[in-house]
Amino acid sequence: MADIKGSAPSAIEVNGTSFALHGKNMSYHLYVDPQTQDLFHAHFGGPATEYEVYPSQADKYWHGWTNRVNWMRREFPDLGRGDFRLPAYQVRSAAGHTVSELKYEGHEILRGEKPESKEGLPGLFGEAETLVVKMRDAVSGLRAELSYSVFPQYDAVARSVRIINGGKDPVTVERLSSLSVDFAEEELNIIELRGDWARECQRTKRKVDYGTQGFGSTTGYSSHHHNPFLCLATPQTSERHGDAWGFSLIWTGSFNIEVEKNSQNLTRATVGLHPAQLSWKLAPGESVASPECVAVYSSEGIGGMSRRFHSLFRKHLVKSKFSEQPRPVLLNCWEGVYFTFDAEKMYQMAEATSALGIRLMVMDDGWFGGEKYPRVNDQAGLGDWEPVPSRFPDGLPALVDKITQLEVKGKGEKLRFGIWVEPEMLNAKSVLYETHPDWVLHAGDYTRTENRNQLVLNLGLREVQDFIIDTLTKLLESANITYIKWDNNRGMHETPSPNTSYEYMVGLYRVLSTLTTKFPDVLWEGCASGGARFDPGILQYFPQSWTSDDTDALERLDIQFGASLVYPAASMGAHVSAVPNHVTRRVTPLEFRAHVAMMGGSFGFELDPTELSEEEKAKVPGIIALAEKVNPIVVSGDMYRLRLPEDSNWPAMMFVSADGATAVLFTFQKRANVNCGFPNVKLQGLDPKAKYRIDEDGLIVSGATLMNIGVQYYYKGDFGSKVVIIERQ
Ligand SMILES: *[C@@H]1O[C@H](CO)[C@@H](O)[C@H](O)[C@H]1NC(C)=O
Ligand SMILES: *[C@@H]1O[C@H](CO)[C@@H](O)[C@H](O)[C@H]1NC(C)=O
Ligand SMILES: *[C@@H]1O[C@H](CO)[C@@H](O)[C@H](O)[C@H]1NC(C)=O
Ligand SMILES: *[C@@H]1O[C@H](CO)[C@@H](O)[C@H](O)[C@H]1NC(C)=O
Ligand SMILES: *[C@@H]1O[C@H](CO)[C@@H](O)[C@H](O)[C@H]1NC(C)=O
Repeated sequence: MADIKGSAPSAIEVNGTSFALHGKNMSYHLYVDPQTQDLFHAHFGGPATEYEVYPSQADKYWHGWTNRVNWMRREFPDLGRGDFRLPAYQVRSAAGHTVSELKYEGHEILRGEKPESKEGLPGLFGEAETLVVKMRDAVSGLRAELSYSVFPQYDAVARSVRIINGGKDPVTVERLSSLSVDFAEEELNIIELRGDWARECQRTKRKVDYGTQGFGSTTGYSSHHHNPFLCLATPQTSERHGDAWGFSLIWTGSFNIEVEKNSQNLTRATVGLHPAQLSWKLAPGESVASPECVAVYSSEGIGGMSRRFHSLFRKHLVKSKFSEQPRPVLLNCWEGVYFTFDAEKMYQMAEATSALGIRLMVMDDGWFGGEKYPRVNDQAGLGDWEPVPSRFPDGLPALVDKITQLEVKGKGEKLRFGIWVEPEMLNAKSVLYETHPDWVLHAGDYTRTENRNQLVLNLGLREVQDFIIDTLTKLLESANITYIKWDNNRGMHETPSPNTSYEYMVGLYRVLSTLTTKFPDVLWEGCASGGARFDPGILQYFPQSWTSDDTDALERLDIQFGASLVYPAASMGAHVSAVPNHVTRRVTPLEFRAHVAMMGGSFGFELDPTELSEEEKAKVPGIIALAEKVNPIVVSGDMYRLRLPEDSNWPAMMFVSADGATAVLFTFQKRANVNCGFPNVKLQGLDPKAKYRIDEDGLIVSGATLMNIGVQYYYKGDFGSKVVIIERQ
């Protein structure tokens, strides 16, 4: 942290109307333009101590058909007054125009616990210094408060914006970014996470070119298609070296990320709400807030950026007590039996689960629907959260009691029980829909399009929020349920208003916050047809999410390495499923499937344990022992991507425990390597002077040797894998 004046180190420095935000190894500078009183951006990157030296040199050379502002780097660019780049906000006045002119009015600095969002939006928490810059439009009375909370340890700044209607007439907010930064780097690349169902989080790189380029989601949720995450990096930046900037939007709804390079080589990045799904009316005195965008800078490449996000999110985003705790090995029945089970079958599976030494048994979709609409397939029952009587003749609590009496073999504890729900949705064939047809999203008389035979409840409605809170409270109070998998299986359409995505999210966050506060001992897992809501908004409440419905281990390498760009391994659910894989039909060895899944914080199995072969059954206890050994390091250690699955036939990842005493190396061979050598993999994150013992071959060598020469393993055939434990001596 910078300590320029020799006084107590401070993350925020102010000189007049120039501001510097400092991380351990990062500075972010902004200042008020003396000519216009607009807020200008000066620097976001490595540490820079002088910050009072502006205004920019551009005043000496700007020239042309467009005005001065197009040469300037701005903090909260407006629309309609000569900046022809992307605006960060757009507000329509009662008179119909969208011109505004926000000028600096004042600022304040808050210290101590970071203030919570007044709307109940998720955000970083904990000790932080916060700069709030207040802006005002003298013509309309519109106000904006730009908030910057600095987390110096992580070289991170969380920014959000509040728009306040300080005028006499109503206005409509039509566009709102959480953050907008103008870069002066001549060449930049965009790295993002892109995909679809069953192939989420594909790391994708493209050059920032002149004009705009961007991505986002209009599905109402963060979606499989693009993650609310942007990395900008120079062409020279690698996993280990160079400048990398990461932007992560703490939001589960539709979002918009755009990058524009202008003719002056200034590159603007904006991250925020999707303008097509925002139309927010503000009566005089009312306000609306953007979600928070976390910006991180690393001079140690993409890997350094990822590690900053991982530790920041584990310590200052995830509120669950499980954030850095090892997770129980679980068995989820979904791919094992899908919709075809009853209480007796579930109990048999639980017996087999406990006999294998697995600690948690999860009953997935298919248990509810009550008498009228039994959920025996995906066509009916969603919304009616009563067990199907024909499947559970003694009710749910009786089954849970029986299951939680089973001893987990070799673990000295009883089997835990978890259950699946999808509370935000319903089937048209449900008592809930018959009773409350008005509770689902709909737009006038347009067809209420079903997707996977289901409709979406409008969580913007208070009564819907309360219904979900009551339903889950009853369920959790009815039996000893210690884990919930909360699914969400379609996007939103036919919404009553463009503002639905925002209103829905505020409602959803109220529900999640209420339930997770009420039931802090429950391990909550998010899911949305796999990873359609793998986002930091969900992570605030649920410490883990199901990473993808694709459980094929080869595909999971790309997905998990991709997700790790921003999300900690601790947040990833990863399971061993049966072969041939149900999505890809690929057959891979049990060890390969298990080793890939162990790179996720929540390791488990997703199959029918009564159908394992004798050979597989014999291997499972050893696999569980290894998973339980590495899990604490995976969940709370520092992660290094040593080789990427898209670049190499031998992807490798390692984790180093927080105290540096233990590391675990995961290395893989994707395809057989005929008559060729095997490259060494160089480790990272070790102490060069310390000696380490490598369990695989019993060698004791220095950290320097492991990091500079590396280790070499060879494999025969496709899908080779090794998990190597490295202990400091
Ligand atoms: C800080 O940044 C410098 C380069 O600007 C780099 O050499 C150093 O490793 C970084 N240190 C940390 C702790 O990130
Ligand atoms: C504040 O900035 C001015 C230049 O604008 C400089 O002369 C002065 O020394 C700075 N004050 C401090 C305390 O750094
Ligand atoms: C923009 O950057 C390119 C590539 O470095 C350079 O050739 C060009 O002169 C720059 N243009 C301006 C206006 O700075
Ligand atoms: C959101 O849209 C609904 C439906 O059109 C409307 O009733 C409500 O006033 C809107 N809310 C805001 C804040 O714009
Ligand atoms: C519920 O299950 C957990 C985990 O097995 C156990 O620790 C706890 O004592 C049980 N609670 C009740 C009320 O039976």
